[in-house]
Amino acid sequence: GMPRFVKIVEVGPRDGLQNEKGTVPTDIKIELIRRLAASGLPVVEATSFVSPKWVPQLADGKDVMAAIRTLQGAHFPVLTPNLKGFEAAVAAGAKEVAVFASASESFSKSNINCSIEESLARYRDVVNAAKNHSIPVRGYVSCVVGCPEEGPVPPSKVAYVAKELYDMGCFEISLGDTIGVGTPGTVIPMLEAVMSVVPVEKLAVHFHDTYGQSLPNILVSLQMGVSVVDSSVAGLGGCPYAKGASGNVATEDVVYMLHGLGIKTGVDLGKLMAVGELQATGETVWV
Ligand code: HMG
Ligand code: MG
Repeated sequence: GMPRFVKIVEVGPRDGLQNEKGTVPTDIKIELIRRLAASGLPVVEATSFVSPKWVPQLADGKDVMAAIRTLQGAHFPVLTPNLKGFEAAVAAGAKEVAVFASASESFSKSNINCSIEESLARYRDVVNAAKNHSIPVRGYVSCVVGCPEEGPVPPSKVAYVAKELYDMGCFEISLGDTIGVGTPGTVIPMLEAVMSVVPVEKLAVHFHDTYGQSLPNILVSLQMGVSVVDSSVAGLGGCPYAKGASGNVATEDVVYMLHGLGIKTGVDLGKLMAVGELQATGETVWV
């Protein structure tokens, strides 16, 4: 049945801003994260500790973390692609991290420059290092229904990568439709395959809105028992290594639907909408 509470993982400051053409000033990123946390969002993914050559938009991760490390009330995980990134994240004060694998070989190569198996070996090192620091690690699987180069991705491949991440110790597995090609027709069989190897309580869904399918995809995920949903304020985002990927589903739309279903989120929709409106009014411009 449907969950009573859904944990929303706000990914705008990371998944959104990594894909902006211009680089958003650090103080505006910090203010954005502050306001998102103040709206009641329990998790705000803050930045990435990836190569600045690959994602220059997030090269200021250290400064962002320095400003938010004392903020209370929300978790602020960061993306770490390898041990180097993990160590930099810990040094910057991160208390939660995320690793990101792919269900498609081509996308693994273009996003993190290695094969799926090589990435899983790297992530085992990250998870083991994180255990020593008592730092929880989230695991992403990208391209869970389709890949920009390979087309449709078999559910069995997604289940394999999800289980590997879960078995190595990731506390939550986020299933990413990186390019937003999924519909309930492809999402349901994908979730069935993953749920046969990873408990549904450990799963999150991460949809991009390329074809406007995110809300129906989230609804069927909820009906299948998923209770963690990733989204991005104002629908910011895309993916720099997935041509044509549009933004993540807008957090405002997700909260509106969940509250309409009588599902609690802890988010104050009015406060959240005020965050998203900042860009429209020109009071602060980050896109
Ligand atoms: P590489 O070039 O193969 O790395 O990149 P390398 O190990 O050969 O090192 C090359 C250089 O990068 C060296 O520096 C390293 O020190 C440096 P040099 O000696 O040339 O001066 N380097 C680093 N610098 C800073 N931080 C690090 C780091 N690691 C190495 N952590 C690498 C491999 C994984 C680093 C690179 O490909 C990378 O950073 N990729 C990240 C791409 C990315 O962030 N993509 C977007 C996030 S994934 C996503 O959006 C999908 C998701 O939203 C879910 C969904 O929608 O499906 C999560
Ligand atoms: Mg994404």
